[in-house]
Amino acid sequence: MAARRLLHSAAVSGLVQLRSPRAPAETAAPSAAAPAATDARTAARLVYIETYGCQMNVADTDMALGLLHADGYARTDDPARADLILLNTCAVREKAEERVFARASMLAEEKARPGVVLGITGCMAEHLKDKILTRAPYVDLVIGPDGYRRLVQHVDSARRARGPGVVGKEKPGAGLRDTTLDRFETYEGLDPARAKNEGLTEGVTGHVTIQRGCDKFCTFCVVPYTRGRERGTPPREVLRQARLLANAGYKEVQLLGQTVNSYQYEDVGFAALLRAVAAVEGLERVRFTSPYPLDFSADVIRAIAETPQVCKHVHLPLQTASDSVLLRMRRGYDYARFKTLVADLRAAIPDIAITTDLLVGFSGETEEEFATILAAQEELRFDGAFTFVYSEREGTSAARKLPDDVPEEVKQRRLAQVIALQQRITGEIYRAQIGRRERVLIEGRSRRRADELFGRTDAFRAVVMPAMPGVGSGDVVNVLIEKATFATLLGSVQT
Ligand code: F3S
Repeated sequence: MAARRLLHSAAVSGLVQLRSPRAPAETAAPSAAAPAATDARTAARLVYIETYGCQMNVADTDMALGLLHADGYARTDDPARADLILLNTCAVREKAEERVFARASMLAEEKARPGVVLGITGCMAEHLKDKILTRAPYVDLVIGPDGYRRLVQHVDSARRARGPGVVGKEKPGAGLRDTTLDRFETYEGLDPARAKNEGLTEGVTGHVTIQRGCDKFCTFCVVPYTRGRERGTPPREVLRQARLLANAGYKEVQLLGQTVNSYQYEDVGFAALLRAVAAVEGLERVRFTSPYPLDFSADVIRAIAETPQVCKHVHLPLQTASDSVLLRMRRGYDYARFKTLVADLRAAIPDIAITTDLLVGFSGETEEEFATILAAQEELRFDGAFTFVYSEREGTSAARKLPDDVPEEVKQRRLAQVIALQQRITGEIYRAQIGRRERVLIEGRSRRRADELFGRTDAFRAVVMPAMPGVGSGDVVNVLIEKATFATLLGSVQT
């Protein structure tokens, strides 16, 4: 994403990151007629799916794959072979939406093959609704984040409605749309490990969405409009899903919610839930994202400090350090309050890593207001930061009431300053890790070299180390940190 830089090489934020398709090689789907894997492989219909946006979307993709698998689909990483093509999308930035339109138009060529269905799901589907069907008539399905239970049925209807091989002749607006927001939908009863168990997905971290929607209504944010009102998954269901993930072999579980620490279900709050999930047998690590600064209670801080399985890393979105801009953003806190929270976290958990989101160029941001972000970076010394330039989103309160008046070149210059400073700070923090021994969860081979492994520390720092026989994806090993770049630690496995 052009405007977004990831400075701690991690997808920990509740915000946008483009995910490339991560289908393992085509994997067999069940077939009533042909249960043997090889027969099923030839008999299965194939789904190709690309995921954009945050971890919530990654979790939703896994859930959709599980539902499709039960209907006989296998996953493919080749759209030219797929019977169903889905783009699971994000709405946080306009550019991301434009990119999805371009991608959908390219993938629509696959519809020259009979029976191929092309769908756009997720937040952009919810945000743009019929506008997608009008602008991109080759899109057969538009399904919002609360419509996945009906996904299979919608795909079948779309296939029947469209008939074979119609491409380029579709009537604008004729596709099928399901963008009803459902304030009770938590997808209770589905199996979050199904996609992994069936070999449809990779990764060493399982996800449990404990909360959907958002009630905070920050003025710049489209999420309350794309994901609806906040609702929590019942604790018994969260624990059921966490146990399924542990049984499927996940050692790490990430609890997800737009404001995850606002979780409340009857008398169970986030701190109690965190402790209960950490006690699930087989789980070595529990993470969560993204918390909302104001809902970080003393209870939650104690639960992190006292529970060894809960990772000592918090992603705490600051956005800006200017009180006047925070007020315009309706974030609900001022900089002094945020600083106190950081101090409380560091006092209770001395080794904690704190990462953040920083947003430059919001409506009316002056040079003085912008300078507070740089000062806060120096003062609070975040481990890393997701950085953004403001992108006005239709339907938000900022779009209605506040002008998007900071010139693009000013936004870009401010973004570059924030990135350069954060790189320096992250580099200093990473160099200070040299000589430490860290528990590292191996995620797989490093992208750079096949003879290296990649993993993450408890604090979510990326670590690269030489491969070792018998050590692979999903293992937790002790690593001596020997070197550091500005975003990666380099070390060796200690036996
Ligand atoms: Fe996530 Fe983007 Fe939706 S950040 S909640 S996928 S708008």
